[in-house]
Amino acid sequence: MRTALLSLTFLLAGTMAAPAFAHTAAPKKKVTATTKKGKILPMKEYIDQLMAKMTLQEKIGQLNLMVAGDITTGGALDTQVGSDIAQGNMGGVFNIKGLDKIKALQEIAIKNSRLGIPLLVGMDVIHGYETMFPIPLALSCSWDTEAMKKVGEVSAKEASADGINWTFSPMVDIALDARWGRISEGNGEDPYLSGVMGAAMTQGYQGVDMRTEEILRANRIMACLKHFALYGGVESGKEYNTVDMSRVRMMNQYLPPYEAVVKAGVGSVMSSFNLIDYIPATANKWMMTDVLRKQWGFNGFVVTDYASIAEILQHGTAKDIQEASEQALKAGTDMDMCSNAFVKHLAKSIAEGKVSEEDVNIACRRILEAKYKLGLFSDPYRYCNTKRSKSEIYTAENRQAARDVAAETFVLLKNEGNILPLKKEGKIALIGPLADTRNNIAGTWSVAQVPSKYTTIKEAMEHALAGKATLLYAQGSNIWRNQELQQNGECGKPINWGNEAEMKAEALKIAKEADVIVCAMGESAEMSGECGSRTNLEMPDVQRELLAELLKMGKPVVLLNFAGRPTVLTWEKAHVPAIMNVWFGGSEMGDALCDVIFGDKSPSGKLTTSMPKTTGQEPLYYNHQNTGRPVADDNEKFAKFASNCLDVSNGPLYPFGYGLSYTYFSYSNFRLSSQEAGISNEEATEWQDSKKITASVTVKNNGSRDADEIVQLYIRDMVASISRPVKELKGFQRIHLAVGESKEVSFDITPDMLKFYNADLKHVIEPGDFQIMIGTNSKDVKTMKLSVK
Ligand code: NOJ
Repeated sequence: MRTALLSLTFLLAGTMAAPAFAHTAAPKKKVTATTKKGKILPMKEYIDQLMAKMTLQEKIGQLNLMVAGDITTGGALDTQVGSDIAQGNMGGVFNIKGLDKIKALQEIAIKNSRLGIPLLVGMDVIHGYETMFPIPLALSCSWDTEAMKKVGEVSAKEASADGINWTFSPMVDIALDARWGRISEGNGEDPYLSGVMGAAMTQGYQGVDMRTEEILRANRIMACLKHFALYGGVESGKEYNTVDMSRVRMMNQYLPPYEAVVKAGVGSVMSSFNLIDYIPATANKWMMTDVLRKQWGFNGFVVTDYASIAEILQHGTAKDIQEASEQALKAGTDMDMCSNAFVKHLAKSIAEGKVSEEDVNIACRRILEAKYKLGLFSDPYRYCNTKRSKSEIYTAENRQAARDVAAETFVLLKNEGNILPLKKEGKIALIGPLADTRNNIAGTWSVAQVPSKYTTIKEAMEHALAGKATLLYAQGSNIWRNQELQQNGECGKPINWGNEAEMKAEALKIAKEADVIVCAMGESAEMSGECGSRTNLEMPDVQRELLAELLKMGKPVVLLNFAGRPTVLTWEKAHVPAIMNVWFGGSEMGDALCDVIFGDKSPSGKLTTSMPKTTGQEPLYYNHQNTGRPVADDNEKFAKFASNCLDVSNGPLYPFGYGLSYTYFSYSNFRLSSQEAGISNEEATEWQDSKKITASVTVKNNGSRDADEIVQLYIRDMVASISRPVKELKGFQRIHLAVGESKEVSFDITPDMLKFYNADLKHVIEPGDFQIMIGTNSKDVKTMKLSVK
């Protein structure tokens, strides 16, 4: 099933004009990928030979990417997209679902275009294909790199079985402002964690480092790093808004995760919608070429985001679309998504001497190289395998993987009186607008989802409790009192709209009968994601009111908070005994939730974004600078003439790295192997005399359940040539401890961990004192000093 966003994409595509140039005829000659012996030529030789046969317009055609539209298999050739492909005006298509349809388009490219160059077939496979994993923000709360790899692998396996060879993921935009809806699509506020998670996902998707010439296996797909760069820095968290930041901040806080994914070998990069130094990213040569290629060594291709070349006009930095396409190509952008700009204007720009044919050659070669590495020249139909499409999608094995990962993403925020885990006995009332929805559990960006196959929370609980306890259910409320507000957050994923008074009465009735009340409340799936910015992050009106009424009954209440962002739960923390952030947990969320709420598994997720006390605290992040007037304790009362606000203290409601378990962990015996280290120069890669410095701590499970703990390492540079953050995550380990078991957890402290980009944008370590911190979250740490000389 397509989401409304996908249909919107189709719609927009329909308004784009077809390429205007006439196809320059050249002799019909197919290029074969293989030598006479059946082996493909080496990449350079192969592409040299192919490009020697291509006309200028065919090369430009490779730089064009469009949505496929809703084609019918037999009639594909008669569509605009079909005829564009046949004329060699298209390098790839995207967001089309259905193997037959994809095969039909690929056949046109192979059989009807002059040179038979296969298509890239892309899709926003962001957190799963039909087997949906939790939204990326939730996935990051697992702090489990192996799980991230698995997510990439399973997504690639399913998508590739259904004709897709390219995904627009991972998204590693640092997001500090929870008002921004797209915070749901990334890994939160920390540059190190975000990079590690994005790199793992990329490895999962591709299986190979695409900086090499290794060919991907047929069950892997090319990843696309996005949104390059700084998209998460939009002012006031408002979608598509202006970004303005210093290069020092870019280098230290926003760019590291992109660099980590490039170094993991991602094959493609997507330019972002925003400005960078007041130049649209798509036309920003410094970012697209100097940083990305020259500094980091990226050798794949850059695709724009949707219609970003056309948007250069809106930004007011080009007089017309022809000039905008020239700027984009010259900056290092290789492929045009949906502006139809390259294909219509570049030939003219070359004729007028405004861009060089060599720039087109370079971009075309990069795209052909990606096709080569995807194995499309050896076998253009390698992703069109009907047998795989029938047997490898939404399998029991993939669903089990999604269920296991989802259970690691829930973050237990409060558990007064150990209400959780619930016993499977008596009467449990399940109440809330998210409790029985099939189309919302996968969350935003679920283009290929098939909700009819999924189990709701209510159904999963019924199944888990069968024969043991009674489940009573009532929707209880709408998402919002105002229907228009509710619809704004639906985008093709409607939630049942009912009579407020009747729904409430029904909820109160079943709650009266129950022994315990479980509330499934919060945001609907599309209240976050693209164009999902909010200015008030509290629980929507009717839901909060219902929750308050239910609490008055004095029964144990558990709040399962659905959210695509850190929401404001200040009132809930004060009143509700147990709260678990469950995000949007994917197609298997119902069963995964049962695993955790009934105690088969202990919750182990930890926040990757600070949770605010009020929306006005945003942007709120743990790795901030100290300021010249810091407060001594960020949960202190108001201090006049210090950096704080009159009405709320600085600290978060729940800090970065926070999350409870059903057991208790103690940290002891924190030690450094040495409190002194030397460097030979400020770019040193190792300590003097190859000394090793290790920080260790003993972690013990003191509770009564086996469980996982995420041990976190933070560092602060006390004095440097530029102001450094109060702490920065530099390492973490997810460990499993049986009841009573203890483990020594060690981290190597390397010079690299202490480096930063200085005012000259040089990556250096400066001698002086550093605080080394280890703990269970970013606030609750033990500290030791390390002196570097
Ligand atoms: C716009 C979004 O910003 C981007 O993330 C997505 O990949 C493209 N559209 C394609 O759907």
